Amino acid sequence: MTEPKQVRAAVYRGTEGDRLSVETMTLAGPEHGEVRVTVRAAGVCGSDRHVLDGEWQVPLPAVMGHEAAGVVEAVGAGVRGLEIGDHVVIAWHQACQRCGECAGGKPWACTRAKSNDSLLPDGTTRWSDGADGAAAYPYLATGAMAEAIVVPEFAAIKIDERVPFDVASLIGCSVGTGYGAVANNARVVAGESAVVVGAGGVGLSIISALRLAGANPIVAVDVSEAKLAEATRAGATRTVLSGDDLVEQVREATGGGADVAFEAIGRVQTMQQLPELIRPGGRAVFVGLPPEGQSVEIDGLLLAYEGKTIIGSNYGGLVPARDFPRVAGAYLSGALPLDDLISARVGLDEVNEAFDAMRRGERTRSVILF
Ligand code: APR
Ligand code: ZN
Repeated sequence: MTEPKQVRAAVYRGTEGDRLSVETMTLAGPEHGEVRVTVRAAGVCGSDRHVLDGEWQVPLPAVMGHEAAGVVEAVGAGVRGLEIGDHVVIAWHQACQRCGECAGGKPWACTRAKSNDSLLPDGTTRWSDGADGAAAYPYLATGAMAEAIVVPEFAAIKIDERVPFDVASLIGCSVGTGYGAVANNARVVAGESAVVVGAGGVGLSIISALRLAGANPIVAVDVSEAKLAEATRAGATRTVLSGDDLVEQVREATGGGADVAFEAIGRVQTMQQLPELIRPGGRAVFVGLPPEGQSVEIDGLLLAYEGKTIIGSNYGGLVPARDFPRVAGAYLSGALPLDDLISARVGLDEVNEAFDAMRRGERTRSVILF
C-alpha cells in the first residue's frame, strides 16, 4: 500500500470568481489496477475554461486540468501493462471497459463512464483537501494540473519516449480530439474539401489532421487574424475572417459547399450555421461543446431534402490505446507537425494568467510544465 502523497495542484473552489488557487492537496493510491503518474506537462484547454467561467457545473473543490503527459511513478496491484518510468499520455474519457460499447470499440459511447462527474470509473476520488481532509474531485477524472495524478491503468497510454512531454500532453485532449474527429468521426478521405470554424487548440488540431488525411481545400474560419495566420501554418489552404458573408465565402472557396465542416468553438450560433457550409450529402461535425442547456435550431429540410448528415464527436471517437500511439507516430515521422500548436510554456503558478490569455484569444495553447 503506497502512502498518500502531498501534491501541489491548481484547485478551483468557485469562491473567487474564475480564479484557481495553487494548493497542496492529498493524493491517495494507486489502488488495484491504477497507476500514479508524475505529471510533466498539462495543457490549458477550453473545457476547463467552461467550468471556471460558470458555463458547466462540476463537484467542488476541483483539481482542474485534463490534458496531460508524464511518467509512471508507482503502479498498483494487478497492473500488467505499465512499469515505473514509462512515458504516458492520459485519456480523460475513462470508459468502464466492460459494457457492450466498450467491447465493441466505442469506449466514448460508454454510459457508465464517470469522467463528467469528476470521478474515477469506480465512482470514487483519490483526492482530498490538504486543509480539512474533505474530498476533492479530479476534473474529467484527471485533475491534471497537479504534480502527480492517479488514474486507471487503461487511461495511461504508453507512448514513444521521443515525443516531448508538452506535445504529448496535447495528444490526450485537443490533438487527439481533432485527429479523431477527422479520422474516426468524419472519416475524411484524400481530396475532400473541408471547413473548420474556430482555429483554437482544437480547430488547429483538426486542420493538421485534415492535412494528414489529404483534404483539399482546407478552409479555416475565425474572428482573429492571428489565429488565421496560425491556421495557415497548420495546413489551411484558405482563411476566412468570420462575418456576415461567411456562408458565401465558404461556398465560393469550396465550389458550392464543403464535403465536411467542423465546429470547434462550442457556440450555438456557429453550430446552427454549420449545415449551410456543406454541400448536399455533406457532413457537419459538432466538436465544440456549447454551454449547458442550450439548443441548436436547424432547418429540417436542409438535412432531409439535401441529405446532409450531422455527426456528434465525443472525444473524437477515440480508442486511446489505438489512436494515441498513431498520433505520436505521425508526429515523429513529421507528417503531423504539432510543435507550432504550443504558444506558451508556463509554470503552475501562472495558471490564471494562462486562462486569461485564452479568454483574450491571445494564445493557441499554453502548456504548464512541471
Ligand atoms: N466565429 C469564429 N471563430 C470564433 C468565434 C466566432 N464567432 N468566436 C470565437 N472564435 C474562435 C476564437 O478566436 C478561438 O480561436 O474560436 C476559437 C476557440 O478556441 P479556444 O478558445 O482555444 O478553445 P479550444 O480549446 O480550441 O476548444 C474549443 O472544443 O473541446 C471543445 O470545450 C472545448 O468547446 C471548446 C471547443
Ligand atoms: Zn480538453
